[in-house]
Amino acid sequence: MYLDNAATSFPRPECVIRAVEGWLRSGGAAGRGNHAGAEAAAALLSGCREGLAALLGASSPQQVVLTGGCTESLNIVLLGLLRRGDRVIASQLDHNSVLRPLAHLQRTRDVQLDLIGFDAVTGLLDEAQLQRLLSAGPARLLVLTHASNVTGRVQQVGRLAAMAAAYGVLVLVDAAQTAGHWPCRLTELGADFLALPGHKGLCGPLGTGVLVFRDGAEALVEPLKFGGTGTDSELLVHPDSLPEKFECGNLNMPGIAGLAAAVSWVLEQTPQRLQADLVRKSDRLLAGLQSLAGLRLLTPAIPGVSCGIVSFVIPGLDSREAAMVLEQSFGIQCRAGLHCAPLVHAALGTELTGGAVRLSVGEFTTEAEVDQAVRAVRDLVSEFV
Ligand SMILES: Cc1ncc(COP(=O)(O)O)c(C=O)c1O
Repeated sequence: MYLDNAATSFPRPECVIRAVEGWLRSGGAAGRGNHAGAEAAAALLSGCREGLAALLGASSPQQVVLTGGCTESLNIVLLGLLRRGDRVIASQLDHNSVLRPLAHLQRTRDVQLDLIGFDAVTGLLDEAQLQRLLSAGPARLLVLTHASNVTGRVQQVGRLAAMAAAYGVLVLVDAAQTAGHWPCRLTELGADFLALPGHKGLCGPLGTGVLVFRDGAEALVEPLKFGGTGTDSELLVHPDSLPEKFECGNLNMPGIAGLAAAVSWVLEQTPQRLQADLVRKSDRLLAGLQSLAGLRLLTPAIPGVSCGIVSFVIPGLDSREAAMVLEQSFGIQCRAGLHCAPLVHAALGTELTGGAVRLSVGEFTTEAEVDQAVRAVRDLVSEFV
């Protein structure tokens, strides 16, 4: 039983598998040939961009940049935007794909970093602390995780982004755990930059990612790589227009073929329907685990606010060992440890006890599997506590 959808979704829709295979059986590189294969690749790319623009609320398909993953999208903004001495506000909920580039920038560009905390009961970022940090002095950027990949709690990003906008602070949203199976649109979130992977809630292939720019925000960011774009080839300087400014070299076309199919699938299902389905299953899991004595839940005990994740600790049992038993004795695949988000665990006091066990449902998880997982955890608790 696969309950590790927060790491990467599994299984994937059949149309995604067929699209990747279909691409590998065809030929042609977009913008790199004067034949039908190259044209088909260019059409696929623009179709994928159009679908993503419609799904994510971009003002046009050109504002959608295709990357190798959410980590790359976040790095493009952090390393391309921040200059020597800039101040950034991020949070304890952030993933290492935000925290590590920022640590690098603290060392190399003297970037100043302030971190917002969160409430352990509601899982929500501390709004009052954000207000204090915003009024304490100028900041260049606020980084917000749309949903924690440890607690699953979806944040009130629109409210927090509006607070930042009132101070002229740019907003980067990490939608790694929400995009696809939770409504996630640039304008509603109030984001200037929206970073996401193709392989989680979108159900596309690993190695695909997306970065959406608010109109004009691209001008603030220097590219990290330069090279052939298949356009303006007479120029020795890299084009400044989107999407080429941040896309060069041949793209991951098999992955993008799968991503295009995944986006069409999500648009057909609608993120609203996928969200309702996800919430129904994660609420069921949460309710089942809540009823077990001897278990500490890290996911807030509030229905309807988790993006499919339910995390817990069994006091006295190392979480990595618990995950091993869940797989070996009950056939449940999940993820235990720090989930690349060490500050969440430091704040919750779980960093020195093997982190937490994270169960994450996905589009194809059934309610029967959820119930089976609850029974497995109940048996685990009664055996070890
Ligand atoms: C909150 C969060 N941000 C960023 C990432 C990085 O995504 P990717 O591995 O697609 O680069 C993840 C991956 O788990 C995540 O959970």
